[in-house]
Amino acid sequence: MPVIAAEVRGHSMVSRLAIDEAELAEVLSRRLDAVEDRLRECIGEAQDAFVSEAVGHLIAAGGKRMRPLLALVAAEFGDGSGRDGVEAAAVSELIHVASLYHDDVMDNARVRHGVPSANAKWGNAVAVRCGNWLLSKAARLVADMGPEAVRLQAHASDRLVEGQMLELLGPAPGEDRLAHYFKVISDKSASLLSLALRIGAMEGGASAETMEILAAYGEHLGVAFQISDDILDITSSSETLGKEQGKDLAEGVASLPVLMALADERPHGRELRELLESGPLSDAMARRRALELIRRSTAMDDARSMMQGRLTQALSLVGDLPDRPAIQVLEGFCSFVASRTE
Ligand code: FPP
Ligand code: MG
Repeated sequence: MPVIAAEVRGHSMVSRLAIDEAELAEVLSRRLDAVEDRLRECIGEAQDAFVSEAVGHLIAAGGKRMRPLLALVAAEFGDGSGRDGVEAAAVSELIHVASLYHDDVMDNARVRHGVPSANAKWGNAVAVRCGNWLLSKAARLVADMGPEAVRLQAHASDRLVEGQMLELLGPAPGEDRLAHYFKVISDKSASLLSLALRIGAMEGGASAETMEILAAYGEHLGVAFQISDDILDITSSSETLGKEQGKDLAEGVASLPVLMALADERPHGRELRELLESGPLSDAMARRRALELIRRSTAMDDARSMMQGRLTQALSLVGDLPDRPAIQVLEGFCSFVASRTE
């Protein structure tokens, strides 16, 4: 497998979350190292060197390792008799990366995590098989965690696929577009954050009640995180994102900022409606104009305040958890998501 990106080796999420308990930061960093080892070991199990390279491509390219860290943090809420959450962390990253291989095929994306996407490098047929391989590997790991974990993983995978399908299909005639958007992002994004926390807590030996709270926190955090991603798709450059900017518009996906801008009654909103009625904005000039109109509307502030609402809900759940130092990491995740779009 190619060398793991420096960003991951330094565990940038641990430093970004500014965990003041040095001991906890140290433990989590050590366990994240173990997750990297586990991922590398999984990739190394491919029978063929090319398969190993291709399925390891996006894992090596980097990413924030948010889901693994959430799984490890959730394991900290166990009763002390459980395990460290490394296996749950590896499972959640394998599923996440599998979904990115598929997503990039669906979007015809050329770049992911600052490197050529697998479909750009090897074509769609290879990229889809890589996604399948990674998902199967996750299933193999989860099988050793017991039937309940298998059930949870299967359910989260169903939701991921259905969320993606719903996004593709768009809202049904007469369906509320905002309700459709929230259903899509809960399923395609929040489901996996929630799973990471749930199986991490399960591995750590947490009570059923604690597991439910962590899973619900993950749903809110995941929705907020996807909103922040959708905001960044409008505001950030491709270099900062490590993927193309304005992709939602190019694909004709109405993300939250777009929906809010369309509802703007001022001339901006009218012009944007006219532009978008012509279908997905494949023309770069039209896309630039649409991005400008969205940025100038009240949509960005509206989207940010909806994101903040979900973060507030996530934070209120944290208060119901057993009092452990790991709580500050969950709070830190909320601040991190809020700060992404500032
Ligand atoms: C990125 O979102 C993609 C996802 C959150 C999930 C994609 C899910 C699938 C393709 C279903 C297949 C799932 C499995 C488990 C194989 P985005 O497109 O909004 O963000 P981006 O800008 O990073 O592409
Ligand atoms: Mg995408």
